[in-house]
Amino acid sequence: MKVGVFDSGLGGLTVLNAIIKNLKGADIFYIADTLYAPYGDKSKEEIFSRSEKIANYLLKNYEIDALVIACNTATSVAIKHLREVFPSLIIIGTEPGIKPAINNTKTGNIGILATASTLKGEKYQLLANELITKNEVKLHEQACIGLVEQIENGEINSLKTYTMLETWLKPMLHKKVDTIVLGCTHYPLVKKTILDIVGEDVLLIDTGDAIAKRVVTLSQDLQNKNKNALNIEILYTGKINSDMVKIILGKNKFEMRKCEL
Ligand code: DGL
Repeated sequence: MKVGVFDSGLGGLTVLNAIIKNLKGADIFYIADTLYAPYGDKSKEEIFSRSEKIANYLLKNYEIDALVIACNTATSVAIKHLREVFPSLIIIGTEPGIKPAINNTKTGNIGILATASTLKGEKYQLLANELITKNEVKLHEQACIGLVEQIENGEINSLKTYTMLETWLKPMLHKKVDTIVLGCTHYPLVKKTILDIVGEDVLLIDTGDAIAKRVVTLSQDLQNKNKNALNIEILYTGKINSDMVKIILGKNKFEMRKCEL
């Protein structure tokens, strides 16, 4: 099986890590669209165009069987459009884990950290509205402007990143938030800092494992033999912090190269 995965940058590697833990015997082509990162402040048209170009590139060059949008922003804004443009391609998206958060919360107050585009996107709006009308919960949404850039720069533990997070998270604690949805695939990379601020009693939810499970089910459907090593290629369109890539992917073997797109 050949799987394409993409994000604006490093964030989708948190999803890739979950896929690596669960899947075997497949070729994975990851595109970090760093030339256009962050997606969070881009227009709908720009995100449509980048997602479409990436899907085309992966189909033409690697004949992928499935595409994982390892990005909440591109999913929220463009998954419907991509499915219309590529009707025969299997597309798996990434959505903020509001449902598991509802199952966990005791106070009924859930924090949602995401990019401004995700929160404004049609897909997120539909999901959030449907769930709050069916459940007695309050969603405390926060667009984390600038956080993706901090992470792309490798500033995982810097004082500036800590202060930004503290400004967003302290008000959530005052509102009795006990569950926080990490609605951007970059944010698990600052999980430790978030927990330092909110304390270990607050549950942080990300959806990497859920996406990995869907990819494994798909591989079974496609009769992929789930054994032997994965072949992983990391492609990037602009600059990339390769030290961060190595840190995130740990001991996993991968090839890395720039691609023009
Ligand atoms: N990692 C992405 C997401 O899940 C992209 C964020 C961005 O580029 O602004 O939303």
